[in-house]
Order: sequence, then C-alpha cells, then structure tokens
Amino acid sequence: MKNPPETMFETAFAEDTYKGLTNNPKYLLSKYIYDKKGDKLFQKIMDMPEYYLTSCEMNILKSNTEAIAKAFSSDAGFDLIELGAGDGKKTKVILKELVDKNYKFNYLPVDISQNVLEELETSLAEEISEVDVKIQQGTYFKTLEKLSEYNTRKKVIIVLGSNIGNLSHEEAVNFLENIANAMSDDDMLFMGFDQKKDPQTILNAYNDPAGITSEFNKNLLVRINSELEGEFDTDSFLHWETYDPETGTAKSFLVSKKSQNIPIKKLGLEVNFDAWESINTEISQKYDDSIVNWLADQAGLNLEQSFNDEKNWYKNYIFRKK
Ligand code: AVI
Repeated sequence: MKNPPETMFETAFAEDTYKGLTNNPKYLLSKYIYDKKGDKLFQKIMDMPEYYLTSCEMNILKSNTEAIAKAFSSDAGFDLIELGAGDGKKTKVILKELVDKNYKFNYLPVDISQNVLEELETSLAEEISEVDVKIQQGTYFKTLEKLSEYNTRKKVIIVLGSNIGNLSHEEAVNFLENIANAMSDDDMLFMGFDQKKDPQTILNAYNDPAGITSEFNKNLLVRINSELEGEFDTDSFLHWETYDPETGTAKSFLVSKKSQNIPIKKLGLEVNFDAWESINTEISQKYDDSIVNWLADQAGLNLEQSFNDEKNWYKNYIFRKK
C-alpha cells in the first residue's frame, strides 16, 4: 500500500502530507490551506456574518482604542510587531490612534506571504501614510528569533484573530514560550483568544450554508492534486465540523463518502480510504480565562489585563514576562 519515496521529500508540504495521510487516524496540517486561493477563501470567511470572530475583535479594538494605544505606548517610542498581519484591517484602527496621538513607533508586520505584506504596505501608504512600516516576510518562529535582537526599546508583539486556536495546547505553550523568550521585561504581548460560548454559535461559524468553509478545508486536497500530483475528487469528501464544549475544541474533518484509493504520484503513495473514514484538517480552540491563565503560566508569562466585546464572545489579553 505504502511505497515511501526513495529520495528525500522535496518540500515540507510533501513530507507533512505523507506523514498525515499514512497516520492512523489521518490528518492534514491546516497551515497548508493558505496558498493564494486559501488566502482569498479566508478573506471571504472573515466577511461572513456567521464568522463572528472578526466583528467581535473589531468591536473590542474600536471600543478600547484609546486604552489599548496608551498601554502600547512608551516615552522612548516602541516597535509594534504583528505576527500574521494579513490585510491589517483591524490593526489599522490602533495604528490610526497611535498616529493621531503622536506616539513614536515603528510598525513591523510579519507574514508568511510577501504578497499580502506588499498589499498591506501599499494600503498603509494610502490610508495612514504617517506610519513607519517595515514589512518582515517569514515564519513566526524564524522571525521571532530575529526579533529578539530588537531590544533597544519597548517591543509590543500583537497576534490577532485567535490564530493561536489552530494550535494544540502543547504547541500553543511552545509558541507563547518562543514569544516570551524574545521579550524583555518592558515588552508586552497583546493577543486575541476566541472564547467558549453557545456551541451552536461556534458550529455555525465553521459550517456556513454557502459552503465557503468547506471549500477552504478542501483546498488542502486541491493543493495535493496540483502540487503533489494527487487524484482527489473533492466531491467525494464531506466537510464535517464538531465542537466539544468540555474541551472547547472545534474540529474540522473531511470525510470520505465511499471506499476509495487515491494515488499521490509525487509521494509514491496510494492512500486507501474506507467509506466514512475521516481526515482531520484543523482544530479551532475556544478558551476561557482559566485556560488562558494556564497557558500563560506554562509559557512564563503573566496575564495583566483583558478586553472583551459586548457579548463576551471574544477577548484580547495583555501579557508580560513573569
Ligand atoms: C485563522 N484561524 C484562526 C481560523 C479559525 O477560526 O480557526 C481559520 C478558519 N477555519 C475555518 N474558518 C476559519
């Protein structure tokens, strides 16, 4: 059934895909959803009425703009580093306030996509030209190492969108620990965490009737087809979402509607699916204060302050190094 390739894998995507599809149970890593098409689909998701995360976080930033900008500020100026900046739509609310109040700062948006960063740079030049922006292309981890060299003045690291939710608790502690290691005593971390809430609200956010989230998840199969010469028929897989209110974990699956064998030429692999066998494609963790406190504590951070939206569906927290 499995013929491991004789040569090394050409890309991390190839290697991770091989590992995930030969594992029992099968899984694929959600970070690979985001190619050009995946980025576009995620933009569409963020505009969906069911995907409350975006509007809740925007609500928090808009109703606490002054307090947040003040917490970020420092007399000697500061570096504002955003991990996973994307289109910067929400961050611009804070950037505008920082400029209006004449706070001294540089904005360093980090993203894996150079394309997204250039678009952000252009839109900032048009909308808030006073912002001194230095785009940083790269992965979070590589960039964090580089950022620990920024230690002449205060660093404010921000991560919006509950991006941490796509990591297991173990990975999340590791991620927070990496950030903590790059921080000095004066530095601050500002991060968004989607909260536990009515399970139906969560399921609706990941199960839209227009099928955008389904297409988003199936983009993994589309990428395997185009980049690894796979032969997935995406219609023969069903997108299925679950939410466990006990653990706060939303899980996305692609479920094979029939028994089928899928060749993936570049991996030298034929993947066998039983009827109704699943591939886990993503987790989207939901939090409460006690989980966030526990994660922070494990990572050597102190939770200092929190901001919530009107419905208490989402929170942004400020952390400092312990
Ligand atoms: C990027 N991330 C926080 C999103 C989430 O909510 O887990 C990705 C997403 N998946 C389905 N819809 C949105």
